[in-house]
Amino acid sequence: MTDRPTIETLLREGRTFPPPAEFAARANVSDPAVHERAEADWQGWWASWAERLDWDRKWDTVLEWDAPWARWFVGGRLNASVQCLDRHVAAGHGERVAFQWEGEPGDELTLTYADVLAGTCRIANGLKSLGVGRGDRVTLYMPMVPELAMTVLACARIGAVFSVVFAGFSAPSLRDRIHDLEAKVVVCADACWRRGQVLDLKAVVDEAVADCPSVEHVLVWNRGEGAASASPGTERDRSWREVVAGQSTECAPESMDSEDPLFVLYTSGTTGKPKGILHTTGGYLTHVLATSNLVFDLKAEEDVFWCTADIGWITGHSYVVFGPMANGVTQLMYEGAPNHPRPDRFWELVEKYGVTILYTAPTAIRAFMKWGDEWPNLHDLSTLRLLGTVGEPINPEAWTWYHQVVGGGRCPIVDTWWQTETGGIMITPLPGITELVPGSATRPFPGVKAGLVDESGAPIEGPGAGYLVVERPWPGMLRGIWGDPERYVETYWSRFPGRYFPGDGARRDERGYYWVLGRVDDVMNVSGHRLSTMEIESALVSHPAVAEAAVIGVPHELKGQAPVAFVLLRQGHESSDALAAELREHVAAEIGKLARPEAVHFAPELPKTRSGKIMRRLLRDLAAGKAVGDVTTLADPSVLQQLKTEYEGRE
Ligand code: WTA
Repeated sequence: MTDRPTIETLLREGRTFPPPAEFAARANVSDPAVHERAEADWQGWWASWAERLDWDRKWDTVLEWDAPWARWFVGGRLNASVQCLDRHVAAGHGERVAFQWEGEPGDELTLTYADVLAGTCRIANGLKSLGVGRGDRVTLYMPMVPELAMTVLACARIGAVFSVVFAGFSAPSLRDRIHDLEAKVVVCADACWRRGQVLDLKAVVDEAVADCPSVEHVLVWNRGEGAASASPGTERDRSWREVVAGQSTECAPESMDSEDPLFVLYTSGTTGKPKGILHTTGGYLTHVLATSNLVFDLKAEEDVFWCTADIGWITGHSYVVFGPMANGVTQLMYEGAPNHPRPDRFWELVEKYGVTILYTAPTAIRAFMKWGDEWPNLHDLSTLRLLGTVGEPINPEAWTWYHQVVGGGRCPIVDTWWQTETGGIMITPLPGITELVPGSATRPFPGVKAGLVDESGAPIEGPGAGYLVVERPWPGMLRGIWGDPERYVETYWSRFPGRYFPGDGARRDERGYYWVLGRVDDVMNVSGHRLSTMEIESALVSHPAVAEAAVIGVPHELKGQAPVAFVLLRQGHESSDALAAELREHVAAEIGKLARPEAVHFAPELPKTRSGKIMRRLLRDLAAGKAVGDVTTLADPSVLQQLKTEYEGRE
């Protein structure tokens, strides 16, 4: 360990990291020309991955593109759960472990692919007995337990459209999502463990569904002894024991059209209303199968893959459930917090289960870094061979720490850029061929064409900085926003006509490597989670004391960004620390704790343009302690001085 260069030295030297020879020798991609090869026939490249799926009926046409509406593998039929389960069992791998699960209190469960198939079929039959069928919507509100993955697969098996809501969202957020989707059934856990505490999830669901006429049943899975007791059931509630436990372990899969909806996942946009991002079946599976295989270099017979994301986010959909399972690999799944009971919980798990590939978020890496090297150093991490990150730009310091302290200087790091909307990874190293530069997501995945454009939409060639765009359709792309086709066109395809605009800015260097800089819209990235400034503003304005609110993301050491609110009170309300605290809690109750503002500042006025638009840019400059930029468009320039006094007074 002592001969390891210091992080400072590595950063100072501007080191780059070619693939280690041993890694490259066995990598799933070793052809350095794979990008060029895919480019030469990009539809054929994607089709070659689709061919690795088990289709009930092969497609007639790879792609129909009626911009911005895409249809992939048109005419093909398949079932998503079959790709993840039946075909592995049929190939004789039923006894391979699918999930090593560990609960936060230390309870353990090992499930093989055959077990997961049987469990999935039971749940599928249970859902059918509640009247769920093809095209019906089911909302899931569960912690990280295998039953969540199995319920996802069960919905896919019977052709029901599922929507997982992260179990940290509050009752009003859950209610809005159930409403928008008109879900027929909600599947939830009664409880889960987080940092040594039992959280009562059923209470949140009860509050949410009180107001949801579409919901016919709530199916409740019991987290087990010691968990919170479920609140008194109603006619609507059904227990797992009653509905699922006695079901048959066989359930014939529905043969779905390639373009049939698979799931809807809500994510924050630039308005107050979350968007239901729609993904379909054949293209999505092709994209996550290919990216899991090549980016994570999965070897089904050997690897223990651990993606630490919750299934409530897209990363968990694509790289816990569908991608790794379509590849038939063994995974670790963990219910709880990374620092419970001690800051070495993750490293203990890596050692205990022999994890070979770890995929996590920069915000977690920064926290580990802060907790100190002693925690990873307590454990034998030598099984690790590949590391990954996702969710936000990773600063070179955190990258280098991850590489040295967790990866022992031996493991490539795949910094993967993508979004809920893209379905799968879009810009990423391929670990057997890409020379890594800390902080860069490097190149578009083979078959993906990215680009940069300037303010006017003109393409930027060569090195430069601008708006990141995707130049043509890809199989995992969203097929729309649930119930709102105009918003789909408007949000992603109208800023730069003919190009997909993800809302990020990026730089491209001399090598053609991309450096994603972050959001350029009113979306912030808090601990790798997307939050809309408008959504938090609406939550604040729903409090009786608040007349107006403006929210910005400010840089935060661990979270990347944190929300800070500027609030104008209604007549008759006085600013106070107690009210600031109340407003922070109000946001947590309206949206979820992840959205709770770091600080609430009371403002005598908000800076607005003459047309009444809040100028968040000025608030951002103020919060960053920067010279405040152009104020000529401000209706009342004196507002800024007042705000400055207020802001600095409260620092
Ligand atoms: C950001 C998460 C830089 C980006 C999969 C994107 C990243 C948003 C990276 C999507 C990365 C994700 N480098 N930024 N490697 N990965 N982002 O929908 O701003 O939760 O638009 O999907 O996260 O967040 P979402």
